[in-house]
Order: sequence, then C-alpha cells, then structure tokens
Amino acid sequence: MTELMDAALMYGPGDIRVEQVEKPACPAGGFVVKVLAVGMCGSDIRNLTTDSRKGVYPHIYGHEVVGLVDEVAPGVSQYRVGEMIYVYPVAHCLRCDFCRSGHSEQCPNVEEYTEQPGGFAQYIAYGPKRVERGATFPVPDGIDPVRAALAEPMSSTYACVDNINVTMGDSVAILGAGPIGVFLAILCRMRGASTIILVDVNADRLEKSAAFDEIDHRVNSSEVDPVEEVLRLTDGLGADKVISANPSTIAQQQGLLMTKRAGTMVFFGGVPKGALTEVDSNLIHYRGLWIYGHYGSNTMQVQKAFELAIDPKFPADRIVSHVLPLADINRAIEMTRTGEALKVILTPNEQ
Ligand SMILES: NC(=O)c1ccc[n+]([C@@H]2O[C@H](COP(=O)([O-])OP(=O)(O)OC[C@H]3O[C@@H](n4cnc5c(N)ncnc54)[C@H](O)[C@@H]3O)[C@@H](O)[C@H]2O)c1
Ligand SMILES: [Zn+2]
Ligand SMILES: [Zn+2]
Repeated sequence: MTELMDAALMYGPGDIRVEQVEKPACPAGGFVVKVLAVGMCGSDIRNLTTDSRKGVYPHIYGHEVVGLVDEVAPGVSQYRVGEMIYVYPVAHCLRCDFCRSGHSEQCPNVEEYTEQPGGFAQYIAYGPKRVERGATFPVPDGIDPVRAALAEPMSSTYACVDNINVTMGDSVAILGAGPIGVFLAILCRMRGASTIILVDVNADRLEKSAAFDEIDHRVNSSEVDPVEEVLRLTDGLGADKVISANPSTIAQQQGLLMTKRAGTMVFFGGVPKGALTEVDSNLIHYRGLWIYGHYGSNTMQVQKAFELAIDPKFPADRIVSHVLPLADINRAIEMTRTGEALKVILTPNEQ
C-alpha cells in the first residue's frame, strides 16, 4: 500500500496548497529523510511567488533541510536510520578545477536542487549521487533541528565575511536588513568589527533588527541619504567593508559611494535579470576600491558554518522569529515577504 505524506505543492505563482501526496520511495543507492525543520528563505519566496518553473507544476520547494534518516537503500553504509542530519542543498563534485582549488561554490557539476522535490514536505528522498558526494552533516544529540536549519542561510554569509577577511577594528556597512543582513552583522561582530551599520528601506525590517546589539547604527535609506549617513558615522572616511545584501541596483551604487578608500565593496545580493548598475569607474580607480562578487560557500565553509550554527553560543533564538507547521506555509510566505518575520522555520512533522 502506498504511504501518504503532507506536502506544500506549488501550482503556480503564489498558489501553494498543502495536500497529501505519495511519500517518496527510497531510491536505489539513496536514502529518505523525515523533515523535522526546513527554513524558508528569500529565494524560496521568490520561487514560490513568481512563475519560477515556467508553467511546470506542481512542484515542492524547500532546501534548508534538517531531519531524521528514515530509510536507507540496501548497500548504503554512510547513513543509519534514526540519525539526525543537516543536508546542504548543493552537493559539489569535489573533482573539478573549481572544487580542487577551494572554490567549490563555482562547481559546474552540481544538480540544480530546485529541480528535485524539496523539503516543504514530511519526507524528502536523495539519490546515489548525494550518497557519493556527501554534503550532509550529522546533528549531535541534544541540538534543536530548528537551530541546525540555520546552517544553510549561514553558509553564504560565513563564506563572504571569511573571503573578504572582516577583521578587528573594521567598520562595516550592510545594505539590506533581511535575515542575511542580520547574519552578516552577527558574524562581522564575532570577527571583531568595531562599527556595524545596517541600512534598509523598510522600517519594519530595521525595527526587527533592534533585537541585535551587534548592530551599532540603523539607517532608513527611504528617509535619509545612506551615503551621507555612513560617511557621518565613519568620520567622513566611509566603511572598510560594504556589503549589498538586497536585490537593488541603487543600493549597489550607494554602496560604492560609501566605501572607504582602498576598502572593499561586496555585491552579495543578485539583482533582477537584465538590470544593470551604473558605475563611475574613476571612483573605483582613484579610490582604489576592491569590488568583490560573492556567491555561495565552498565545501569547507559549509562545514564551518554548520558547526557555528549548532554552537549553543550562536544566537539562533534571536534569528528564528517564527516556528510554524507546514499547514501555515502561506502565512509564512506573507510574513517573510512583508518583513513581519525575520526567519521562519517550518516543522512539517508537527501539527
Ligand atoms: N550571494 C549569495 O550566496 C546569497 C545567498 C543568499 C541570499 N543572497 C541574496 O542576499 C539578499 C538578502 O537575502 P535575504 O534573505 O536577507 O533577503 P530579504 O528579501 O529577506 O531581505 C532583503 C532586504 O533588503 C531590503 N532592501 C530592498 N531594497 C533595498 C535598498 N535599495 N537598500 C537597502 N535595503 C534594501 C529589503 O527591504 C529587505 O529587508 C537577497 O538578494 C538574496 O538573493 C545571496
Ligand atoms: Zn536558503
Ligand atoms: Zn566541482
């Protein structure tokens, strides 16, 4: 008899229905995970609310997965039923030029994880390629799966501050007060940054970030000129490191203008396809700016970010604003979209 499970099926932009579907069978050479916690992130919202699959529906999204191994195919020895694991959504090949040079985030041999049924469901299946490549991490006993689910959104921010070497005494301006901006602020403070400025156009989002002492100054760029404000807060010098963590080309332009001479400006947030950012190259030239485009996280950084996320000293409780059952996914989308929630984690196996 086929077993059923609850899953959040996307039928079209914004049309998400929690229904019963067949529980995935265990693939030959693979395994099945019972999803305990699955985070909802900015890319999920974008995929769920736009025609992300060009008419090919229904589809199950969700990629920030922590759960219990529920079934293991014969011959697979890497996993045992009942263990809790965090599954990084991307399994790098570990063999190509990029993987071997420490840039597995650029690995061209990865499967597009959004093409497979995801974790907004009670169960998710993984095939033999995943078993071979790994990128799964055992969650130690006593660690809340909700906390462990933060490892995925943490990974790219961890990698970013690692790559640009945010260091003691740095001033940092972060444009975008979403969960990513808040992660960046916390990590910059951990690395010793002395001044952290968070900029956003959304007053709600800035207000939510008030819970974080790591942020020294909040700037509402729909009310004041953020360039002038960052210069004022940094003795007219600009910030050593500026990170644009939002989808706006305007913010990217502002970011360049508030970067200190010889400082670093990061393009962390992607902008809509086709949108171009106008750049005064003389500014970059004469001020000696470093411009760095950040994407993803290499294999080692994925692991380090996971270790930090499950460290009880990391303030997971302040980042996760809501833990909701799968049935509330539409509410979760709305709350995240409007900024009412900072970070929602869904728990598909709890009612
Ligand atoms: N580089 C990577 O590897 C990577 C990984 C994850 C997310 N991202 C990107 O990082 C960005 C932030 O992610 P998130 O989950 O926090 O997104 P989010 O949508 O929750 O937050 C983005 C914030 O940016 C603010 N914003 C919009 N326009 C702005 C502007 N002109 N100036 C200042 N703030 C502005 C919004 O009000 C919002 O609060 C997104 O663009 C996302 O796609 C990149
Ligand atoms: Zn994510
Ligand atoms: Zn590779």
